[in-house]
Amino acid sequence: MHSQITELENAFKEELSQTDTSDGSAIEILRLKYLGKKGLVTDLLKGMGQLSAEEKPTFGKLVNDLKVSVQTAIETAQEIAKKAALARSLESGKIDISLPGEGYHKGSTHPLYDIREEVIDFFYGMGFKVDLGRDIETDWYNFEALNTPKDHPSRDMQDTFYLAEGVMLRTHTSGTQIHYMENHKPPLRMVALGHVFRVDSDATHAPMFQQCEGLVVDENISFAQLKGTLSLFAKKLFGENIKTRFRPSFFPFTEPSAELDVSCVFCGGAGCRRCKGTGWMEIGGCGSVDPAVFANVGIDSEKYTGFAFGFGLDRIAMLRHHIPEISLLTSNDQRFLGQF
Ligand code: DAH
Repeated sequence: MHSQITELENAFKEELSQTDTSDGSAIEILRLKYLGKKGLVTDLLKGMGQLSAEEKPTFGKLVNDLKVSVQTAIETAQEIAKKAALARSLESGKIDISLPGEGYHKGSTHPLYDIREEVIDFFYGMGFKVDLGRDIETDWYNFEALNTPKDHPSRDMQDTFYLAEGVMLRTHTSGTQIHYMENHKPPLRMVALGHVFRVDSDATHAPMFQQCEGLVVDENISFAQLKGTLSLFAKKLFGENIKTRFRPSFFPFTEPSAELDVSCVFCGGAGCRRCKGTGWMEIGGCGSVDPAVFANVGIDSEKYTGFAFGFGLDRIAMLRHHIPEISLLTSNDQRFLGQF
């Protein structure tokens, strides 16, 4: 019996010395061979049943000592294997810092945001205050106080998103003029920027777009000053060579009123498909403030005169960057935004 134990011990030591201790699975095979359910040490323990009562304690102790020493040796080997596995995975996952980088995508500001900033910058520099107004207006601010009669087509249900009787998403930023004149006494100069909403949708019209509104009220304000201001503004937006044209038009809140055209940004004024052969493109409306509007906000139109203007920021962005579809500006499409 004793010699059996010694033989097994020697056999184990021999096998362990030939096992690759960096290989966890080889150690596991060894462990099963000796300590598994049908393992060699386990067999010895099982065989003890046949021994006499005197033999059992001594033999039992020896087998148990063998079991413990095999177990300890296996555990030590397992530790070594674990460390070796970690070292291998660190080695294989090593980053080669000499490889070329993958590059990264740099974000950019939205073209509408840029135009907005430029507009604010321009007018702020000329002493205008900036106001954001509000998206939801009442009939008074969006229409009535702006001298827009009850039967004016812009009041039609087709154009306006009504939220309740007499309450709507503003169809233009012009209502901000009224709020501003209610809260500030002349002389005043302000621009208001923000979203406006209309039931309208095609390549160049969207149900939501952005406008910029301007208002100047003081003594002796003339149409000539309006022309000077907006001509300078057009140059700032489209460059020194841009030409401007004030075309007679109608708005209920200005008299006289005009539409502001700039020379076509595509053909330089020669006439092309985009400007329908005219050489001009419309960018906004303007005029001298109608005395009826002054009356609605308690400003004396005998003493004060003023001018106002309004234009779409989306339209300017489209002309500036030759964008064919207005919906691209709000599409959040990376392929589009990545171009700016
Ligand atoms: N509110 C007009 C629109 O949405 C634009 C406009 C025209 C604004 C003339 C003005 C103005 O202040 O004087 O079409």
